[in-house]
Amino acid sequence: MRDKVIVVTGGFGSLGQAVGAHAAALGAKVVLVDIAPSARPFSKTAEAEPFVCMPGVDLQVPDVAASTFASVHAKFGRIDALANVAGGFRWQTVADGDTETWDLLYGMNVRTALNASRAVIPHLKHEEGAIVNVGANGALKAAGGMGAYAASKSGLHRLTEAMAEELKPVGIRVNAVLPSIIDTPVNRADMPDADFSKWVTPHALARVIVFLMSKDADAVTGALLPVVGRV
Ligand SMILES: NC(=O)c1ccc[n+]([C@@H]2O[C@H](COP(=O)([O-])OP(=O)(O)OC[C@H]3O[C@@H](n4cnc5c(N)ncnc54)[C@H](OP(=O)(O)O)[C@@H]3O)[C@@H](O)[C@H]2O)c1
Repeated sequence: MRDKVIVVTGGFGSLGQAVGAHAAALGAKVVLVDIAPSARPFSKTAEAEPFVCMPGVDLQVPDVAASTFASVHAKFGRIDALANVAGGFRWQTVADGDTETWDLLYGMNVRTALNASRAVIPHLKHEEGAIVNVGANGALKAAGGMGAYAASKSGLHRLTEAMAEELKPVGIRVNAVLPSIIDTPVNRADMPDADFSKWVTPHALARVIVFLMSKDADAVTGALLPVVGRV
């Protein structure tokens, strides 16, 4: 990853920070893009690394995504890889839920990745560029209350497959990781009685995402890779 320029969407969140920290530790220059207005507190390690933070970027808006990636390319002269980490979750049953939540999750989980990918493709180097999406293992078969979330992440899985096929001729790879429950502060607060040791840590997941971005994974495209810890 040395001297590569990578962009992480949702870069201020739990997983986004871990992806940025791991890529930076391997020598990459990291651009963290997020809708949040200012960077949340970073760990000491992360603060020491070469990060650029771009707050207040709503990737649901195509023009915003296009201008964001154009300015990253103008600053660094290259973009080597994109991790589409931005996304969100809601639990609600179909009977008691609302249609707006389906639109909300489609927007957060599909539109953000679609717009960011479209914006980065013109800047990625042929035969080297890579995109890694963050899908969900829970979208392979939806449990109760997971309809809107699983439908949106299924959409992201199909987007991953379509982009992988479309970009094969130019050697840009597109893959997705499918986590189960990530060991984040939010999940610990929501499920205090769970066995946290079974969950995949952000750092473990980040290592897989950075591997998929790297040249070591140059034979892998179109993969939907479950990364579930021991869940
Ligand atoms: N946590 C889990 O157990 C789990 C399991 C499976 C898959 N995933 C997926 O893994 C990814 C990261 O999860 P996480 O737990 O690290 O989530 P997180 O901490 O909430 O981080 C996601 C980040 O994306 C940002 N974001 C949302 N909409 C955006 C937009 N329109 N433009 C730019 N940024 C936007 C969020 O900002 P705001 O907070 O301001 O909205 C947030 O900072 C998500 O795609 C999630 O669906 C998570």
